[in-house]
Amino acid sequence: MAAEVRASLSQRPLPSLPCKYFYDERGSALFDEITRLPEYYQTRTEETILEKIAGEVIDAVRPRELCELGSGTGRKIRLFLDAMASRGLLSRCVLLDISEEVLASSAERLAADYPGLSVRAVAGDFLEDLPALGPGGSRLALFLAGTVGNIHPDEVPAFLGSVARQLEPGDGFLVGLDLVKDPARLHAAYNDAAGVTAEFNRNVLRVVNDRLGADFDPEAFEHVAFYDAEAAWIEMRLRALRPLRVKVPAAGLDLAFRAGDEIRTEISCKYTRASFEALCAGTGLVLEGWYTDPDSLFASALLRRRTGGAEGPGRP
Ligand code: SAH
Ligand code: TRP
Repeated sequence: MAAEVRASLSQRPLPSLPCKYFYDERGSALFDEITRLPEYYQTRTEETILEKIAGEVIDAVRPRELCELGSGTGRKIRLFLDAMASRGLLSRCVLLDISEEVLASSAERLAADYPGLSVRAVAGDFLEDLPALGPGGSRLALFLAGTVGNIHPDEVPAFLGSVARQLEPGDGFLVGLDLVKDPARLHAAYNDAAGVTAEFNRNVLRVVNDRLGADFDPEAFEHVAFYDAEAAWIEMRLRALRPLRVKVPAAGLDLAFRAGDEIRTEISCKYTRASFEALCAGTGLVLEGWYTDPDSLFASALLRRRTGGAEGPGRP
Protein backbone atom coordinates (compact mmCIF):
# COMPACT_ATOMS: atom_id res chain seq x y z
CA MET A 1 0.00 0.00 0.00
CA ALA A 2 2.84 2.43 0.86
CA ALA A 3 4.41 1.96 -2.58
CA GLU A 4 1.06 2.35 -4.38
CA VAL A 5 0.13 5.49 -2.44
CA ARG A 6 3.59 6.93 -3.01
CA ALA A 7 3.34 6.35 -6.76
CA SER A 8 -0.21 7.64 -7.12
CA LEU A 9 0.23 10.76 -4.97
CA SER A 10 3.41 11.56 -6.91
CA GLN A 11 1.60 11.66 -10.28
CA ARG A 12 1.66 15.06 -12.02
CA PRO A 13 -0.18 17.13 -13.06
CA LEU A 14 -2.93 15.31 -11.17
CA PRO A 15 -2.06 13.24 -8.09
CA SER A 16 -4.43 10.35 -7.37
CA LEU A 17 -5.27 7.75 -4.74
CA PRO A 18 -6.29 4.15 -5.49
CA CYS A 19 -10.07 3.83 -5.09
CA LYS A 20 -9.88 0.43 -3.42
CA TYR A 21 -8.81 2.29 -0.26
CA PHE A 22 -12.25 3.82 0.25
CA TYR A 23 -13.44 0.64 1.84
CA ASP A 24 -12.49 0.21 5.48
CA GLU A 25 -15.36 -0.52 7.87
CA ARG A 26 -16.50 3.12 7.86
CA GLY A 27 -16.16 3.38 4.07
CA SER A 28 -18.22 0.23 3.54
CA ALA A 29 -20.93 1.61 5.86
CA LEU A 30 -20.92 4.91 3.93
CA PHE A 31 -21.19 3.02 0.65
CA ASP A 32 -24.20 1.19 2.06
CA GLU A 33 -25.76 4.57 2.84
CA ILE A 34 -25.06 5.71 -0.74
CA THR A 35 -27.01 2.74 -2.09
CA ARG A 36 -30.12 4.03 -0.28
CA LEU A 37 -29.87 7.69 -1.35
CA PRO A 38 -32.80 9.02 -3.42
CA GLU A 39 -30.38 10.38 -6.07
CA TYR A 40 -28.45 7.12 -6.37
CA TYR A 41 -30.57 5.09 -8.80
CA GLN A 42 -27.98 2.38 -9.52
CA THR A 43 -28.53 -0.08 -6.66
CA ARG A 44 -32.32 -0.03 -6.83
CA THR A 45 -32.27 -0.38 -10.60
CA GLU A 46 -29.79 -3.24 -10.64
CA GLU A 47 -31.81 -5.07 -8.00
CA THR A 48 -34.99 -4.89 -10.08
CA ILE A 49 -33.11 -6.24 -13.09
CA LEU A 50 -31.51 -9.06 -11.09
CA GLU A 51 -34.83 -10.06 -9.51
CA LYS A 52 -36.18 -10.56 -13.03
CA ILE A 53 -33.25 -12.39 -14.58
CA ALA A 54 -31.64 -14.45 -11.80
CA GLY A 55 -33.61 -17.59 -12.67
CA GLU A 56 -32.98 -17.24 -16.39
CA VAL A 57 -29.23 -16.76 -15.87
CA ILE A 58 -29.03 -19.78 -13.57
CA ASP A 59 -30.92 -21.87 -16.15
CA ALA A 60 -28.52 -20.77 -18.89
CA VAL A 61 -25.28 -21.41 -16.97
CA ARG A 62 -26.38 -24.21 -14.57
CA PRO A 63 -23.59 -23.32 -12.11
CA ARG A 64 -22.65 -25.30 -9.01
CA GLU A 65 -20.51 -22.45 -7.79
CA LEU A 66 -21.31 -18.77 -7.47
CA CYS A 67 -18.46 -16.33 -7.13
CA GLU A 68 -18.82 -12.62 -6.40
CA LEU A 69 -15.97 -10.17 -7.01
CA GLY A 70 -16.18 -7.12 -4.74
CA SER A 71 -19.01 -8.78 -2.83
CA GLY A 72 -19.49 -6.11 -0.14
CA THR A 73 -22.48 -6.91 2.07
CA GLY A 74 -23.38 -9.85 -0.19
CA ARG A 75 -27.05 -8.99 -0.41
CA LYS A 76 -27.62 -9.29 -4.17
CA ILE A 77 -25.98 -12.70 -4.37
CA ARG A 78 -28.93 -14.07 -2.41
CA LEU A 79 -31.17 -13.69 -5.45
CA PHE A 80 -28.91 -16.14 -7.28
CA LEU A 81 -28.50 -18.49 -4.32
CA ASP A 82 -32.30 -18.68 -4.04
CA ALA A 83 -32.61 -19.48 -7.74
CA MET A 84 -29.94 -22.19 -7.41
CA ALA A 85 -31.60 -23.64 -4.31
CA SER A 86 -34.99 -23.94 -6.01
CA ARG A 87 -33.32 -25.88 -8.85
CA GLY A 88 -31.37 -28.16 -6.52
CA LEU A 89 -28.07 -26.63 -7.66
CA LEU A 90 -27.05 -24.94 -4.42
CA SER A 91 -23.56 -26.06 -3.55
CA ARG A 92 -20.68 -23.57 -3.26
CA CYS A 93 -20.14 -19.86 -3.11
CA VAL A 94 -16.98 -17.76 -3.01
CA LEU A 95 -16.85 -14.11 -1.94
CA LEU A 96 -13.83 -12.02 -2.88
CA ASP A 97 -13.38 -8.53 -1.44
CA ILE A 98 -10.56 -6.24 -0.42
CA SER A 99 -12.34 -5.27 2.79
CA GLU A 100 -11.71 -8.08 5.29
CA GLU A 101 -14.19 -6.92 7.94
CA VAL A 102 -17.13 -6.77 5.57
CA LEU A 103 -16.07 -10.01 3.92
CA ALA A 104 -16.01 -12.02 7.15
CA SER A 105 -19.40 -10.83 8.35
CA SER A 106 -21.14 -11.35 5.01
CA ALA A 107 -19.66 -14.85 4.64
CA GLU A 108 -20.86 -15.74 8.14
CA ARG A 109 -24.36 -14.50 7.44
CA LEU A 110 -24.62 -16.43 4.17
CA ALA A 111 -23.39 -19.64 5.80
CA ALA A 112 -25.99 -19.22 8.57
CA ASP A 113 -28.86 -18.44 6.18
CA TYR A 114 -28.13 -21.18 3.60
CA PRO A 115 -27.61 -24.50 5.34
CA GLY A 116 -25.69 -26.91 3.14
CA LEU A 117 -23.96 -24.10 1.23
CA SER A 118 -20.19 -24.14 1.43
CA VAL A 119 -19.00 -20.53 1.71
CA ARG A 120 -15.41 -19.46 1.04
CA ALA A 121 -14.15 -15.94 1.69
CA VAL A 122 -11.10 -14.70 -0.21
CA ALA A 123 -9.58 -11.41 0.97
CA GLY A 124 -7.90 -9.92 -2.07
CA ASP A 125 -7.75 -7.51 -4.96
CA PHE A 126 -9.81 -8.49 -8.00
CA LEU A 127 -7.19 -6.85 -10.22
CA GLU A 128 -4.43 -9.12 -8.91
CA ASP A 129 -5.67 -12.08 -6.95
CA LEU A 130 -8.16 -13.88 -9.18
CA PRO A 131 -5.97 -17.02 -9.39
CA ALA A 132 -6.89 -17.53 -5.71
CA LEU A 133 -10.36 -18.51 -6.95
CA GLY A 134 -8.87 -21.69 -8.40
CA PRO A 135 -9.84 -23.32 -11.68
CA GLY A 136 -13.35 -22.76 -13.03
CA GLY A 137 -15.99 -25.16 -14.27
CA SER A 138 -19.73 -24.90 -13.50
CA ARG A 139 -18.95 -21.42 -12.24
CA LEU A 140 -21.00 -18.23 -12.46
CA ALA A 141 -19.04 -15.15 -11.44
CA LEU A 142 -20.81 -11.90 -10.54
CA PHE A 143 -19.37 -8.40 -10.73
CA LEU A 144 -22.18 -6.09 -9.68
CA ALA A 145 -22.85 -2.48 -8.68
CA GLY A 146 -21.13 -1.03 -11.73
CA THR A 147 -17.79 -1.70 -10.05
CA VAL A 148 -16.27 -2.46 -13.47
CA GLY A 149 -16.80 1.25 -14.15
CA ASN A 150 -14.24 2.04 -11.47
CA ILE A 151 -11.55 0.29 -13.54
CA HIS A 152 -9.89 2.46 -16.20
CA PRO A 153 -11.26 1.35 -19.60
CA ASP A 154 -7.70 0.75 -20.85
CA GLU A 155 -7.32 -1.90 -18.14
CA VAL A 156 -10.71 -3.57 -18.59
CA PRO A 157 -9.66 -5.98 -21.40
CA ALA A 158 -6.77 -7.33 -19.31
CA PHE A 159 -9.12 -7.66 -16.33
CA LEU A 160 -11.69 -9.56 -18.43
CA GLY A 161 -8.90 -11.81 -19.70
CA SER A 162 -7.87 -12.60 -16.13
CA VAL A 163 -11.49 -13.47 -15.29
CA ALA A 164 -11.65 -15.68 -18.40
CA ARG A 165 -8.64 -17.66 -17.15
CA GLN A 166 -10.60 -18.63 -14.03
CA LEU A 167 -13.51 -19.89 -16.10
CA GLU A 168 -14.08 -22.98 -18.23
CA PRO A 169 -15.98 -22.89 -21.53
CA GLY A 170 -19.66 -22.33 -20.82
CA ASP A 171 -19.06 -20.66 -17.45
CA GLY A 172 -20.69 -17.24 -17.02
CA PHE A 173 -19.68 -13.76 -15.89
CA LEU A 174 -22.49 -11.35 -15.07
CA VAL A 175 -21.38 -7.72 -15.06
CA GLY A 176 -23.39 -4.71 -13.85
CA LEU A 177 -22.89 -1.53 -15.89
CA ASP A 178 -24.05 2.00 -15.35
CA LEU A 179 -25.19 3.37 -18.72
CA VAL A 180 -24.53 6.65 -20.51
CA LYS A 181 -27.40 9.00 -19.72
CA ASP A 182 -28.43 12.60 -19.05
CA PRO A 183 -25.41 14.25 -17.38
CA ALA A 184 -27.68 16.08 -14.91
CA ARG A 185 -28.90 12.75 -13.57
CA LEU A 186 -25.31 11.51 -13.22
CA HIS A 187 -24.23 14.71 -11.56
CA ALA A 188 -27.00 14.45 -8.97
CA ALA A 189 -26.14 10.81 -8.21
CA TYR A 190 -22.56 11.69 -7.25
CA ASN A 191 -23.37 15.02 -5.54
CA ASP A 192 -26.16 13.95 -3.18
CA ALA A 193 -27.89 16.60 -1.09
CA ALA A 194 -27.13 14.82 2.19
CA GLY A 195 -23.39 14.87 1.50
CA VAL A 196 -22.87 11.12 1.98
CA THR A 197 -20.83 10.74 -1.21
CA ALA A 198 -18.63 13.65 -0.07
CA GLU A 199 -18.01 11.88 3.24
CA PHE A 200 -17.29 8.62 1.40
CA ASN A 201 -14.82 10.42 -0.84
CA ARG A 202 -12.98 12.00 2.11
CA ASN A 203 -12.82 8.59 3.80
CA VAL A 204 -9.94 7.57 1.56
CA LEU A 205 -7.85 10.19 3.40
CA ARG A 206 -8.82 8.69 6.76
CA VAL A 207 -7.77 5.25 5.53
CA VAL A 208 -4.39 6.61 4.41
CA ASN A 209 -4.04 8.30 7.82
CA ASP A 210 -4.90 5.08 9.69
CA ARG A 211 -2.76 2.71 7.67
CA LEU A 212 0.22 4.81 6.68
CA GLY A 213 0.37 7.28 9.58
CA ALA A 214 -0.44 10.24 7.31
CA ASP A 215 -1.79 13.52 8.68
CA PHE A 216 -4.39 14.52 6.08
CA ASP A 217 -7.08 16.78 7.54
CA PRO A 218 -10.13 15.37 5.68
CA GLU A 219 -12.13 18.51 6.49
CA ALA A 220 -9.59 20.61 4.59
CA PHE A 221 -10.72 18.94 1.33
CA GLU A 222 -13.96 19.41 -0.53
CA HIS A 223 -15.71 16.77 -2.61
CA VAL A 224 -15.73 17.31 -6.38
CA ALA A 225 -17.59 15.05 -8.83
CA PHE A 226 -18.21 15.94 -12.47
CA TYR A 227 -19.12 14.19 -15.69
CA ASP A 228 -16.52 14.13 -18.44
CA ALA A 229 -18.68 13.54 -21.52
CA GLU A 230 -15.77 12.77 -23.82
CA ALA A 231 -14.37 10.05 -21.57
CA ALA A 232 -17.93 9.04 -20.57
CA TRP A 233 -17.02 8.88 -16.91
CA ILE A 234 -17.76 10.57 -13.63
CA GLU A 235 -14.58 11.72 -12.02
CA MET A 236 -14.30 12.21 -8.27
CA ARG A 237 -11.66 14.43 -6.77
CA LEU A 238 -10.74 16.01 -3.45
CA ARG A 239 -9.87 19.70 -3.62
CA ALA A 240 -7.77 21.45 -0.97
CA LEU A 241 -9.67 24.34 0.59
CA ARG A 242 -6.55 26.00 1.94
CA PRO A 243 -2.79 25.58 1.62
CA LEU A 244 -1.56 22.62 3.64
CA ARG A 245 1.38 20.33 4.25
CA VAL A 246 0.77 16.61 4.51
CA LYS A 247 3.23 13.95 5.61
CA VAL A 248 2.77 10.30 4.69
CA PRO A 249 5.60 8.75 6.71
CA ALA A 250 5.22 5.14 5.58
CA ALA A 251 5.35 6.32 1.95
CA GLY A 252 8.20 8.77 2.55
CA LEU A 253 6.11 11.72 1.32
CA ASP A 254 5.99 15.32 2.43
CA LEU A 255 3.45 17.07 0.23
CA ALA A 256 2.52 20.71 -0.20
CA PHE A 257 -0.99 21.56 -1.39
CA ARG A 258 -2.07 25.02 -2.50
CA ALA A 259 -5.72 26.02 -2.15
CA GLY A 260 -7.51 24.51 -5.15
CA ASP A 261 -5.06 21.65 -5.71
CA GLU A 262 -6.83 18.38 -6.46
CA ILE A 263 -6.37 14.64 -5.95
CA ARG A 264 -8.23 12.26 -8.25
CA THR A 265 -9.86 9.53 -6.16
CA GLU A 266 -12.06 7.61 -8.57
CA ILE A 267 -13.54 7.33 -12.02
CA SER A 268 -16.90 5.71 -12.71
CA CYS A 269 -17.27 4.88 -16.41
CA LYS A 270 -20.63 4.92 -18.12
CA TYR A 271 -21.13 2.38 -20.89
CA THR A 272 -23.31 1.58 -23.86
CA ARG A 273 -23.78 -1.94 -25.14
CA ALA A 274 -21.38 -1.16 -28.01
CA SER A 275 -18.68 0.49 -25.92
CA PHE A 276 -18.65 -2.39 -23.44
CA GLU A 277 -18.81 -5.12 -26.08
CA ALA A 278 -15.77 -3.53 -27.77
CA LEU A 279 -13.75 -4.07 -24.56
CA CYS A 280 -14.65 -7.78 -24.55
CA ALA A 281 -13.02 -8.45 -27.93
CA GLY A 282 -10.17 -10.93 -27.70
CA THR A 283 -10.58 -11.54 -23.96
CA GLY A 284 -12.07 -15.03 -24.18
CA LEU A 285 -15.43 -13.68 -23.00
CA VAL A 286 -18.35 -13.11 -25.34
CA LEU A 287 -21.39 -10.93 -24.67
CA GLU A 288 -24.40 -13.23 -24.70
CA GLY A 289 -27.15 -11.42 -22.80
CA TRP A 290 -27.99 -7.77 -22.23
CA TYR A 291 -30.67 -6.85 -19.74
CA THR A 292 -31.76 -3.32 -18.84
CA ASP A 293 -34.53 -1.48 -16.99
CA PRO A 294 -37.31 0.33 -18.91
CA ASP A 295 -35.49 3.68 -18.60
CA SER A 296 -32.12 2.23 -19.72
CA LEU A 297 -30.34 3.51 -16.61
CA PHE A 298 -28.38 0.35 -15.86
CA ALA A 299 -27.53 -2.93 -17.56
CA SER A 300 -26.61 -6.46 -16.58
CA ALA A 301 -24.37 -8.03 -19.21
CA LEU A 302 -24.06 -11.82 -19.31
CA LEU A 303 -20.68 -12.86 -20.70
CA ARG A 304 -19.76 -16.45 -21.52
CA ARG A 305 -16.37 -18.07 -21.61
CA ARG A 306 -15.97 -19.25 -25.17
CA THR A 307 -14.27 -22.47 -26.16
CA GLY A 308 -10.67 -22.30 -27.28
CA GLY A 309 -8.80 -20.22 -24.73
CA ALA A 310 -8.46 -16.64 -23.61
CA GLU A 311 -5.97 -15.56 -26.25
CA GLY A 312 -5.32 -11.90 -26.65
CA PRO A 313 -5.87 -10.29 -30.02
CA GLY A 314 -3.28 -11.37 -32.57
CA ARG A 315 -2.57 -14.76 -31.06
CA PRO A 316 -3.88 -17.82 -32.91
N1 SAH B 1 -21.23 -6.04 -4.86
C1 SAH B 1 -21.74 -5.22 -3.77
C2 SAH B 1 -20.75 -4.16 -3.31
C3 SAH B 1 -20.33 -3.14 -4.33
S1 SAH B 1 -19.28 -1.87 -3.66
C4 SAH B 1 -23.05 -4.60 -4.19
O1 SAH B 1 -23.47 -4.83 -5.30
O2 SAH B 1 -23.65 -3.92 -3.39
C5 SAH B 1 -17.71 -2.38 -4.26
C6 SAH B 1 -17.08 -3.47 -3.42
O3 SAH B 1 -15.87 -3.84 -4.06
C7 SAH B 1 -16.73 -3.07 -2.00
O4 SAH B 1 -17.16 -4.07 -1.11
C8 SAH B 1 -15.20 -2.96 -2.00
O5 SAH B 1 -14.62 -3.33 -0.76
C9 SAH B 1 -14.81 -3.89 -3.12
N2 SAH B 1 -13.58 -3.52 -3.83
C10 SAH B 1 -13.25 -2.31 -4.34
N3 SAH B 1 -12.08 -2.38 -5.01
C11 SAH B 1 -11.66 -3.67 -4.90
C12 SAH B 1 -10.53 -4.37 -5.40
N4 SAH B 1 -9.60 -3.76 -6.13
N5 SAH B 1 -10.44 -5.70 -5.13
C13 SAH B 1 -11.40 -6.34 -4.41
N6 SAH B 1 -12.50 -5.71 -3.91
C14 SAH B 1 -12.63 -4.40 -4.16
N1 TRP C 1 -19.36 1.40 -8.70
C1 TRP C 1 -20.40 2.29 -8.29
C2 TRP C 1 -20.29 3.62 -9.00
O1 TRP C 1 -19.30 3.88 -9.62
C3 TRP C 1 -20.40 2.46 -6.79
C4 TRP C 1 -19.38 3.41 -6.28
C5 TRP C 1 -18.07 3.20 -6.15
C6 TRP C 1 -19.63 4.73 -5.87
N2 TRP C 1 -17.51 4.30 -5.63
C7 TRP C 1 -18.42 5.25 -5.47
C8 TRP C 1 -20.76 5.51 -5.79
C9 TRP C 1 -18.32 6.56 -5.04
C10 TRP C 1 -20.67 6.80 -5.35
C11 TRP C 1 -19.44 7.33 -4.98
O2 TRP C 1 -21.19 4.40 -8.96
